[in-house]
Amino acid sequence: MDRSCWRQILVLLLFVSTYAEASFSRHMEDFITAVKQVEDGIPGSEPVSVLKSLRRAAGLNDAFIQHFLGDAGSGVPEVNPDLSASISRAVRHRVTEDAAEEGVVLTPDGTTVALTPLLLGLEAGFMSTSNGSVRGLVQLTLAKDLNLSFRIRSRQKQLLGPDGCWDNITSPEVFTLRDRPALLTTAQINGGMDGVVLGMALSDRFRRPVKLSDLLTEYYCHLLETGGGMDVAPRLVGRRRRENFRELVEVSALSRQVVRAVEQQRRVLGRSKMEVREKKQLQAAVREGMREFVQKYIVCPPIIPRCMWGARPYRGTPTNLSLPLSFMFIHHTSTPGRPCLTFQKCSEDMRSMQRFHQDDRGWDDIGYSFVAGSDGFLYEGRGWTWQGAHTLGHNSVGYGVSFIGDYTSSLPSQHSMGLVRNQLASCAVDGGRLKANFTLQGHRQVVNTSCPGDALYEEIRGWEHFGVRTQERHTT
Ligand SMILES: *[C@@H]1O[C@H](CO)[C@@H](O)[C@H](O)[C@H]1NC(C)=O
Ligand SMILES: *[C@@H]1O[C@H](CO)[C@@H](O)[C@H](O)[C@H]1NC(C)=O
Ligand SMILES: *[C@@H]1O[C@H](CO)[C@@H](O)[C@H](O)[C@H]1NC(C)=O
Ligand SMILES: *[C@@H]1O[C@H](CO)[C@@H](O)[C@H](O)[C@H]1NC(C)=O
Ligand SMILES: *[C@@H]1O[C@H](CO)[C@@H](O)[C@H](O)[C@H]1NC(C)=O
Ligand SMILES: *[C@@H]1O[C@H](CO)[C@@H](O)[C@H](O)[C@H]1NC(C)=O
Repeated sequence: MDRSCWRQILVLLLFVSTYAEASFSRHMEDFITAVKQVEDGIPGSEPVSVLKSLRRAAGLNDAFIQHFLGDAGSGVPEVNPDLSASISRAVRHRVTEDAAEEGVVLTPDGTTVALTPLLLGLEAGFMSTSNGSVRGLVQLTLAKDLNLSFRIRSRQKQLLGPDGCWDNITSPEVFTLRDRPALLTTAQINGGMDGVVLGMALSDRFRRPVKLSDLLTEYYCHLLETGGGMDVAPRLVGRRRRENFRELVEVSALSRQVVRAVEQQRRVLGRSKMEVREKKQLQAAVREGMREFVQKYIVCPPIIPRCMWGARPYRGTPTNLSLPLSFMFIHHTSTPGRPCLTFQKCSEDMRSMQRFHQDDRGWDDIGYSFVAGSDGFLYEGRGWTWQGAHTLGHNSVGYGVSFIGDYTSSLPSQHSMGLVRNQLASCAVDGGRLKANFTLQGHRQVVNTSCPGDALYEEIRGWEHFGVRTQERHTT
C-alpha cells in the first residue's frame, strides 16, 4: 500500500473523529476513509451491503438505478447522519453556475474521478452472477446521464469534457471546469471507465476482495517500485485506466449500450418510446460522440494539464504553431536525472524545469511541448498549440517531447516509451496536430548535443517515423 495514502488516512481519522461535522477534503484517500467507517458500522461489511449503504447515503436510488441494482431504501443499513451528510456531499454530482464540478475527487495519481459512476459500476460488478458479464454495467457507468436532449447539446462543438483544475492539490476543495460542461465531463468519463474496468474484474467472483476499501486502496493508491515502475505494476491500477478500458470495451458495443440506456431510461420513467426520427437523431449523436470519445479518451494518452502540476503562467504572449507539424523531436531531461514515479515527484520536476527555463535561461516558459514521467502519465508543457523552445532552429516545425531522467546508459520504462511512441503520436496525427508522415528525430540529429542520451537515441532509431530527413533551418 502507498505510504503516502496511509499518512493521509491516519491524519484524517483523527480529524474526522474530532470534528465529525467538518467536511473532508475532496481526495480519494478521504473518501476511502469514509468507506472504512461505513464498513466498520456494518456487520460482516459485505461489499454489496457497504455499496448499498453508500448509495442510500448519497441518494443514488432513482428508478433507473433500482432497475439494475435494486432498492437502496428502507431495508438498507443507514450510516450515522454526519457521515451520511459527508458521503452525500462527496458523491452527488452537479456542476454549479460558477463551473465548479461537485461529486468528484482527486486521486493520488493526479486524475479526477466522479464517484457516482464508479460506485454504480462496482455494485453492478459485485452483483454479477456470471463471469465476464455484468448486467447494466455500461448503462450505469457511462450512459446513465446521456438521457438529456442530445439535439440541444450536440450544437456544441465538443460533446465530451472538459477537464478542470483543483484549487489546491494537497488539500483539494473546489474543482473548477475549464470550459462549459458538455454531455459528460472528463471526471465523469474517468469515473465511468474505472467503474467499467473494476465492474468487469469483479464479475469473476472467485477473485472478489473481501473489503471495498481494500479494493479502492489497491486500485488508486498503488505505489510504483523503483526499477520496474509501470512495467511491473499490477494490471488493475487506476494509472492503467485507458489501456484497460481499450482492452475491455468494444466501441460498437459501447454505442449500442448508450442508445439502449436512453431507451431504458424512458421505459423506467414511463415515457413513450422514441419516434423513429428521434431515435435516428440519437444514433447519429451517439456516433459523433463516440468518435470524440475514442479520440480523446482511448487513442490519446492521459496528459496531466499545467494547472495540475502547478505551472507558472507563460511569460508574455505565446506564438501559435501552424498545424499540422512535420516533426517530433525526442529529448531526455538529463537533469532531473532520475525517473519520477509519483504525481507529486513528477509535478515537482516539472516545476523545477520550468523555473530553470524561465529564471536561468530567460525563456518564456518550460521549453518542452510535452514531458513523459514514469508514473504512467505525460505532462503538458507548452502543449499542442504554443510553440516551444526545445530544438534550436526547429521549434516552429515540431513538437519537443522529453523523458524525465538521464538515458545515457539506461532506458525509460517500456510503458512511458509506449505512451510517446504509440499513443502520443497517434493522438497527434488523429487530432490533426502532426502530419501522417511526420518525422521523428532525436535532439542530437539537429543540434550539437548528446541529448536524448546514447541508450535512448539507439532505441528511437528503431521507432516508426524515425528519420534523418533534414529541413532548412528556421529562425526560431
Ligand atoms: C434522466 O434520468 C434521470 C434519472 O437518472 C431523471 O431524473 C431525469 O428525469 C431523466 N431526464 C430525461 C430528460 O429523461
Ligand atoms: C494548500 O493547502 C495546504 C493545507 O491546507 C496549505 O498548507 C497550502 O499552503 C495550500 N497551498 C496553496 C497553493 O494554497
Ligand atoms: C473468469 O474469466 C476470466 C477472464 O475471462 C478468467 O481469466 C478467469 O479464470 C475466470 N474465472 C473463473 C473462476 O472461471
Ligand atoms: C493564438 O491562438 C489563440 C486561440 O487558439 C488565439 O486566441 C490567439 O489570438 C492566437 N494568437 C495569435 C498571435 O495569433
Ligand atoms: C508528407 O505528405 C505530404 C502530403 O500530405 C507531402 O506533401 C510531403 O511531401 C510528405 N513528406 C514526406 C517526407 O514524405
Ligand atoms: C560539439 O560540441 C562539442 C562539446 O560541446 C565540441 O567539442 C564540438 O566541437 C562541437 N561540434 C561542432 C560540430 O560544433
